[in-house]
Amino acid sequence: MIKQAIIPLAGLGTRLLPLTSIFAKELLPINGKPGIEYILDECINAGIKEIIFIISKKKLMIKKYFYSDYFYKNIIKKKKDPRIISEYKKILKYKKRIKFVYQNNPRGTGDAVLKTQKYIKDKFFLMLLPDDLIIKKNCSRAMIKLHQKYNTSVMASMKVKKNNVSRWGIYKVNKKLDKRNFIIDGVIEKPTVKSAPSNNAVIGRYILPKKIFKKIKSLKPKKGNEIHITNAIQLLINENEKFIAHNFEGKYLDCGTMNGYINSSTEIGKL
Ligand code: G1P
Repeated sequence: MIKQAIIPLAGLGTRLLPLTSIFAKELLPINGKPGIEYILDECINAGIKEIIFIISKKKLMIKKYFYSDYFYKNIIKKKKDPRIISEYKKILKYKKRIKFVYQNNPRGTGDAVLKTQKYIKDKFFLMLLPDDLIIKKNCSRAMIKLHQKYNTSVMASMKVKKNNVSRWGIYKVNKKLDKRNFIIDGVIEKPTVKSAPSNNAVIGRYILPKKIFKKIKSLKPKKGNEIHITNAIQLLINENEKFIAHNFEGKYLDCGTMNGYINSSTEIGKL
């Protein structure tokens, strides 16, 4: 069973400036609730017991948000507002499951993953990228099921427009397992339109094997002085590790770009 999840949260959020100049993007409200809570709910509903947040000194606000129980307690003492009491209970539920580690120089998702190494207990763990909301269906739960069936790594995926491939990690299919699931042959981070092997994009949900830590350590920073998880995945594929791309059923909301972020409240509001 997959019991642990990690969430990289040290990114600067430059695509959402000016909203992120002093504010953590993951706390920005989406239809009245901080984006990160959607991600936490997905984890908890998928059976995850422990969630490791990778933050930085600049993103301490995120820790404060989950450690604000005294603030709630004092208010509840004065005023027994049922709404505030239920919000307080929710924060406590999250806090109980979250651990914090630090990545003070954001050097990519690969580097963020490495910071969690000594806390990962089992052979596989889940990673969620907080920019990517998937609504209507719990994508993590579906991926965990798939992992249980095949005992392999899994990544969420979807087809994107051909002229947009350089926004994503793009993979090539090796073998079709069924309508939604494919064994992948290789993956490349943000290729040019010309060099892209397909228009199959990786979306921010990954079930990764513990052995990926060793591969990350062997990597040198690439594009944008960052260590990409995509490159570590490729190294594992080269050694015949199986990765399944799972075309998820839910609806994808790209909250890491301004247009996507604005649109996400409207989409969630329709539910
Ligand atoms: C990251 C990954 C990329 C993936 C994307 C999904 O990119 O590096 O491979 O396709 O998430 O959202 P980022 O959004 O951090 O630029």
